[in-house]
This record gives sequence, structure tokens and C-alpha cells, in this order.
Amino acid sequence: MRMGKQMATSQKFGGHWTEEKLNIFTSYLDAYLIALQNQKFKKIYIDAFAGTGEIETSDGEQHLVGSAKRALSADMKFDHYYFIEADDQKADELRNMVNTEFPLLMRMVTIYCGDANDKLAQIINDVDWRYNRGLLFLDPYATQVNWTTLVDVSRTQSIDVWYLFPFSVLERMLPKNGKYDRWEDCIDRLLGDSGWQTEFYRKDPQLTLFDIFPDETTINQGERLVKDANPEHVKDYIISRLETIFPCVSKHPRIFRNVKRSPMFLFCFAISNKSSAAQNLALKIADYILKNK
Ligand SMILES: C[S@@+](CC[C@H](N)C(=O)[O-])C[C@H]1O[C@@H](n2cnc3c(N)ncnc32)[C@H](O)[C@@H]1O
Repeated sequence: MRMGKQMATSQKFGGHWTEEKLNIFTSYLDAYLIALQNQKFKKIYIDAFAGTGEIETSDGEQHLVGSAKRALSADMKFDHYYFIEADDQKADELRNMVNTEFPLLMRMVTIYCGDANDKLAQIINDVDWRYNRGLLFLDPYATQVNWTTLVDVSRTQSIDVWYLFPFSVLERMLPKNGKYDRWEDCIDRLLGDSGWQTEFYRKDPQLTLFDIFPDETTINQGERLVKDANPEHVKDYIISRLETIFPCVSKHPRIFRNVKRSPMFLFCFAISNKSSAAQNLALKIADYILKNK
């Protein structure tokens, strides 16, 4: 969905994967609304990194319709839309966009200006999840989503979530030599615990000069460690971590790569509903889209 007329927006980011990501997400959103149309539940949309509704990619090459506007434009409607955006100016642009382009939906829209983790906790607390089903889009630039937020989401047992996991940022934070001090807290906050320390490092089997003359910069707790984290391994680990809190996670996340083919983001899908019928349907739709779009 490209924009015909180029609108002024303060939102510039992403690369060629931005459109792919939005197409995957919107395809799921459309199918979700159809699948739930005759169910007794109210349908809630939550866009926790909402932006302005318009996107200019940072290479300046594309003007795209953003997730907020796509969700509001879908043929079938949610019963309520929650948008969270940390930046005041972007939240104002978003509000203006809703007021001018979707006046009939205004009373169903709540826009929060603030941190996604805080506001999501508030929304999760305010909604009675026995009577509501939610679709959540987590589309951060980097490591903004706390693991504890994902735990809260999974506890609702009612929210399907698409999460753009910051793959390249994680890879860059993982130290080459297994000395964990610099980004340790951030990685723990992102992945929920420090299991990555044993997952991605092993003792270097080769005896080198470093073992004879140990150097503080290469030694961690008396051992010299080597990083063992190729992209496939990191991908599998992220999915396995999500599986510790969500009862159902797609095994076919999409890897978005830059022009040099390095992985930038991992687009993951997880279901918090415990019903196997709900899981089977949601997973079937998501996997079909992930394999074909
Ligand atoms: C990748 S953009 C999201 C784009 C949006 N999904 C779209 O399709 O137009 C990330 C957005 O999150 C906002 N943001 C950054 N940190 C945030 C935080 N902690 N909480 C909420 N929003 C945040 C940024 O200002 C930016 O607008």
C-alpha cells in the first residue's frame, strides 16, 4: 500500500523490508477480522509503536501507509483501537490523521503518548480478557520491548502478537569474547534471562598463547570463551524463548535482511490463547502468509 500523494510526516525509518512487514501484518489483520466476525468476543487492536500512520523510508525511496492507518482502513472493523507512541509530535500527527481521515472511528480510538511497556501494561489491566480478543503489533526500532511485557501479553490468553524482534541489535550486543559486562542487562531484559550466556558461548578448545599468558580482556571467569551464534542459531533461540511463555509460536518467522544479506529483524508470530482450535486457526493463517507473502 503506497501513498498516492506524498504527505509530510515526521516518521522516517526502515528499508525495503518495511513494506514486506506491513503487508504480512495487514494480511493477517484482514484474515483475523474475518475469522472472528461471528464470535461473541469484542475485537481489540493494539499498535504499541504506532508512529504517525505515514512512513517515509530512511533511504527516501518509498512513501508507505503505516500500520495505524492500515488497521483503521481495513474493510472490517475492530471494536476498539489502542495506539501507543512515545514521541509527542508523532502522537499529535497520528491524532490529527484519525480526526481528519477516520472521524467515524474517533470514539473507538484511544491514543496514548508514552512508553509501550507502561501503556501496554495499563491496557492489559483495563480490558476484561474474558470477553475480548486482541491483535497486538510490536514494531520497535530496537530493544524497547521488555520481556516482562511479553509475559503480561501471554497471560491474557487472548492476544495474538506480531513482534519485530531486533535481530541485528542483539547480534551486535553479544560480545565476541564472552565478557558479558557491557550489554548484559539489556540482553537479559530483551530475552528474559541470562540463558543466552551459555547458549551462545563455548569454551575455546584450542590452546593458544592466551592460555599461557592470560589476558583480562579475553577471559571470563577463568575461561576463554568463543562466540557460537550464527544467524540460524540465534533465530532458533529467539523462537525457543518465545515458546517458554506463549503456548503457540510460528516456526516460520520471516528474516528481514539488508542489501548485504545480513539479518536485521526477525518477524515473529505468537498466540497466547490456550484453546487448540484458536491456535490451529491462527497459526494456519499466519504460516500461510509467512510462507507465501
Ligand atoms: C518502527 S516505528 C513504528 C512504525 C509503525 N508501526 C508504522 O507502521 O507506521 C517505531 C515507532 O515507535 C516509537 N517509539 C520508540 N520508542 C518507543 C517506546 N518506548 N514506546 C512507544 N513508542 C516508541 C517511535 O517514535 C516510532 O514512531
